[in-house]
Amino acid sequence: MTQAKLDWAHAWLGGVSDRPSDDSSFIEKLKQELPVLPFLALPFAEDLIHQLEIHEEFLRSFKHMLLLGIGGSALGPRALQRAFAPGQDRPNYDGPSLWIADNVHPEWLQEHLDNLVPEDTLVVVVSKSGGTIETIAQYLIVLPWLQTKLPGTWQEHLFIVTDANKGFLRDEVDKYALRSLPVPDNLGGRYSVLSAVGMVPAVFLGMDWKGLIQGAISVGRPLAENPDTLLEHPSWKLARWAYQMSEAGKSQVIYFCYIPAWSTFGPWFCQLWAESLGKDGKGTMPIPATGVTDQHSLLQMFLDGPKDKICLFVSSPANKDILPMPAKLPEQWQYLKGHTFGDILEAETLATRATLAQKDVPVVHLDMPDESAYSAGKMMMLLEAATIFTGWLMGINPVDQPAVENGKKLARARLGMPGSEEDASRLAMFTAIASKNMEF
Ligand code: PA5
Repeated sequence: MTQAKLDWAHAWLGGVSDRPSDDSSFIEKLKQELPVLPFLALPFAEDLIHQLEIHEEFLRSFKHMLLLGIGGSALGPRALQRAFAPGQDRPNYDGPSLWIADNVHPEWLQEHLDNLVPEDTLVVVVSKSGGTIETIAQYLIVLPWLQTKLPGTWQEHLFIVTDANKGFLRDEVDKYALRSLPVPDNLGGRYSVLSAVGMVPAVFLGMDWKGLIQGAISVGRPLAENPDTLLEHPSWKLARWAYQMSEAGKSQVIYFCYIPAWSTFGPWFCQLWAESLGKDGKGTMPIPATGVTDQHSLLQMFLDGPKDKICLFVSSPANKDILPMPAKLPEQWQYLKGHTFGDILEAETLATRATLAQKDVPVVHLDMPDESAYSAGKMMMLLEAATIFTGWLMGINPVDQPAVENGKKLARARLGMPGSEEDASRLAMFTAIASKNMEF
């Protein structure tokens, strides 16, 4: 089998060179932290596979899945859907449909409740904490919808993915005897796609979910089983590169995906990177970009804007032989004769990579052998581990997100949650400042 590769040929550009470093202390850190980094070894994977096999027939018996979840509970499932079950966005589709509610969009939710046939629908509520206001508010609206439309059978249309022991949703599971699967301890949202969080929708969609898990295991588990190999692991090399680049003023990381079907891994990666690394005035800004689409959008800035960017460039030769160009072509397009449509993707992929390098943008090329779920699992594990290790090198905790808590508290105060008086007065300080409006 052809291997996934990282190509470093154009990584050290932009005036930054690889400098030697003694990182051996991080081997000890990895050994100590392994128990709280379950995403790496996926110790729960075998049991999860067993559980999913038990639920598979049930999950696949529905035509629609309405997933209520936000952040890490939504971006992974959406990336998997778009990459491996894209039919819903294509003509003549009649397969399973996944609707992901990851916003507080009253009209969107109303429209889905008006149009989804409850008998054909499984509502999946995904929240590690079981206390996320956006998700729980949706649940509180969808629950009576199910109860009213399906008296007697509504429990059969709810599936909860949450903490094994605590939280509001776990209480709901116990109260109503609902089907559920746990999110393992210490597995935060953005590191949870390979748990029930991503795998319940993946099973519903009928994708190769086992391949995805196996691909991830092939990258993460050898390192977890032998932490002494840390400094040689591709995820460490990536982290060190990103860190050294950030030290040298490269403050933006482009995730440039030339596998069109994988473009939604961009938002998934950006949440992983931004929420993990934006702390204490540190971190680098992730930018999602899709080739070739963004050649006609963002690329000009990447090439000729401020020299503050580095690029993770993802591609695969898989589409090369698809869709031959017609034999009859106008005179000025004759050079396309004998080529496939896939050749155009391949040519533009190469040309953009070369141009980035020639413009001195440091590029690490994730050269994927194919577009399979197995390969995607490898990439996801590589990027998750690299994110954690970049955080370590930057001296920050990559698994929390303390800054966003403030906004959550202020919103709860605005909605009148008891005990929020202090937050309410902080909010009042803000609203007391008169607006400076300019009509347009
Ligand atoms: O990555 C994270 O930890 C967050 O983005 C969470 O996924 C998000 O806040 C939702 O949390 P929860 O799964 O507890 O509802």
